[in-house]
Amino acid sequence: MKVTAVAPANLAFIKYWGKADEALRLPLNSSISVNLSNLNTTTTVEFAKKLTKDEVIINGKEDEKTTQRAIKHLNKIRRLAGFDDKIKVISQNNFPKAAGLASSSSAFASLTLAASKAAGLKLSKKELSILARQGSGSACRSIPGGFVEWIKGEKSDSSYARSLFPADHWSISILALVVEKEQKKTSSSQGHKLAKTSPFLAARVERIEEKIKQIKKFVKEKNFTQFGQLVEGEALELHAICLTSNPPIIYWQPATLEIIITVQKMRRSGLPVYFTIDAGSSVFLIGEKKNEKTIKERVTKVRGVKEIIVNHPSGGARLVKKHLF
Ligand code: PMV
Repeated sequence: MKVTAVAPANLAFIKYWGKADEALRLPLNSSISVNLSNLNTTTTVEFAKKLTKDEVIINGKEDEKTTQRAIKHLNKIRRLAGFDDKIKVISQNNFPKAAGLASSSSAFASLTLAASKAAGLKLSKKELSILARQGSGSACRSIPGGFVEWIKGEKSDSSYARSLFPADHWSISILALVVEKEQKKTSSSQGHKLAKTSPFLAARVERIEEKIKQIKKFVKEKNFTQFGQLVEGEALELHAICLTSNPPIIYWQPATLEIIITVQKMRRSGLPVYFTIDAGSSVFLIGEKKNEKTIKERVTKVRGVKEIIVNHPSGGARLVKKHLF
């Protein structure tokens, strides 16, 4: 049976950085995110006895490293289903790979949903989230809809994401600003490992539960100013851990800083807008929907901004009828 799933990428307000268990992808801390409406991955899968080997095509390419990671994940699903048929997988992002935006959350969430369904597994959202987490940590947050909390848990079956509020809870806009492609990127997997070498990680972990509590409150109350200040401080804290890891990780490009300075200027001029940055040079701006157009116009002019992708909060991973093959 051919099955296709679409899953959104998600953006963390309070980030996942550092693992408590490497193999199981248990995080050091809980995290909070929102699903993005305009950055997603579609994945079509089909198990077939006639195939002699797994075929995995991601964004039109057969890349050995990515294929092996996907197959490792598919083996888990085959083990759960109790069969070993080979599979054909075609997975496609709706945004150009060159954009340098992370896509592992949407990729593994869509692969998990499509493959588990095709394997005949009847999994709850919680079980799907647990499974997706084992492919890529942040993928667990792309299964439920809207504003999401990943509860860190102590064991595999207690580390999963759940929806806090539906997508229509709060009319915010999330602008993904793609900057000059970085020379050489440290993967988030390497970054998670290196986090432990930062002398500041302990201080971060100590305060993180309080930050989680606060962000949930600000999102619930739709307190944009306090929410924005916390989100920005959190992004800077993540990068402080990166900068003080050994060896240090510097994700920013000159344009990253240009955007940060522009955001501060916009705020000084009375326009409420805040930034966050993941493990890369691209910047995400968060504003109230009523200001979306103005924010977009102001940042379009910033040197080094190659592309702007406008998003709103969206639902989670879902099955669709239109297959990719
Ligand atoms: O799921 P991973 O291993 O790609 O890690 C994601 C790390 C960040 O994007 C930097 C933070 C987060 O919570 O999404």
